[in-house]
Amino acid sequence: MNVERGFLWGASSAPLQVEGNNVSSDWWAREESIPGMVASGDAIDSYHRYPEDMRLLADAGLNAYRFGIEWARIEPRQGQISRAQLAHYRRMIDTARNLGLTPVVTLHHFTSPQWFAELGGWMAADAVDHFVRYVRTVIPILDEVEWVATINEPNMMTMMIEMARAAESGELPEWQSPTVEGAVQPLLPIPDPQVGRRFVEAHHAVRDLIRDATGAKVGWTVANQALTATPGNEAKHLEIQYALEDLYLEAARGDDFIGVQAYSSQQVDENGLVPHAPHPDNTLVGTSYRPDALGMAVRHTWDVTGGVPILVTENGIASGDDARRIDYTSGALRGLFSAMADDVDVRGYLHWTALDNYEWGHWEPTFGLIAVDRETFERTPKPSLAWLGDVARRGGLPA
Ligand code: FCB
Repeated sequence: MNVERGFLWGASSAPLQVEGNNVSSDWWAREESIPGMVASGDAIDSYHRYPEDMRLLADAGLNAYRFGIEWARIEPRQGQISRAQLAHYRRMIDTARNLGLTPVVTLHHFTSPQWFAELGGWMAADAVDHFVRYVRTVIPILDEVEWVATINEPNMMTMMIEMARAAESGELPEWQSPTVEGAVQPLLPIPDPQVGRRFVEAHHAVRDLIRDATGAKVGWTVANQALTATPGNEAKHLEIQYALEDLYLEAARGDDFIGVQAYSSQQVDENGLVPHAPHPDNTLVGTSYRPDALGMAVRHTWDVTGGVPILVTENGIASGDDARRIDYTSGALRGLFSAMADDVDVRGYLHWTALDNYEWGHWEPTFGLIAVDRETFERTPKPSLAWLGDVARRGGLPA
């Protein structure tokens, strides 16, 4: 199949994972306080090198780049706004546009200012008010941005809050990466819908504000695990699926788009999520090799949202083998095109991720289309970048 002109083909990133020295963020404070935790440090210095990063994507043939604005840079101390940082992100938007890349801007990608965390974080009584004030502050730099994602993976953040609670009560080790599974895979509690609803409240509080002020398409991006039931456990599957995903997908009804983020598929049995079984094909984050997850996630999202237009905002594989990345992505795109052939409205595909980066406490899981030397910060495109650029130019997979 060939997609229409205007389809977005690009790659995604997140501020803390690529910028470096996000010293006012809660994640930075966590890195400093947890012994043994691997820190983001200079990350891959995209704070300074974003023009080069964007140029590599544009030169390859891609037409979109998703990046985030770091709240902790805009408001490093409560109420103290950095005009220089606002100007920095505006330059990023302009640079992307000048290169022919449609910017897809995320306003919150896992990290918050440390002062916000100290006030109690997302569960504090006035959390949403703080977020709304931050969003009002960035709205003036969002002129001509067509796609704005309010919050990245609220469902993962609910899980992270749950993990922090479990760590406090001693049920879980003090530190666990949200995306990299350790040797021991604890059975996580089902996330508390009350926590999830707080994110829904925050999302709804800013949706119309952004839309009315900028005319942008506004949505949020939800992690999809392409869940399936083991025989006899259909009811449990629906229960878990609601807590993990559907609550957040239902909240996207009325949005202009929904960001689908899918990597693998997982089963549910009577105890809940079934851990990914060890297998030589597993990815570097321990998940099963499941290129079909994207098609499953897109179809599920379409059903639950009742037909909200879809932008794939993340899909990719942690692998040191770039041929494997191309193989995975081909399979994922086949599933995507098949859903589109069944009339699911998909507006674009943004690969996770542009460059190998800091994967929330780890450097080993490499998801990038571009390799980075962490001593010199030299960027080296992998074959998968040219491959995806070629797919973008043809508007479909090679025959
Ligand atoms: C997603 C996150 C993203 C990255 C990928 C691998 O859950 O949104 O930042 O870590 O997983």
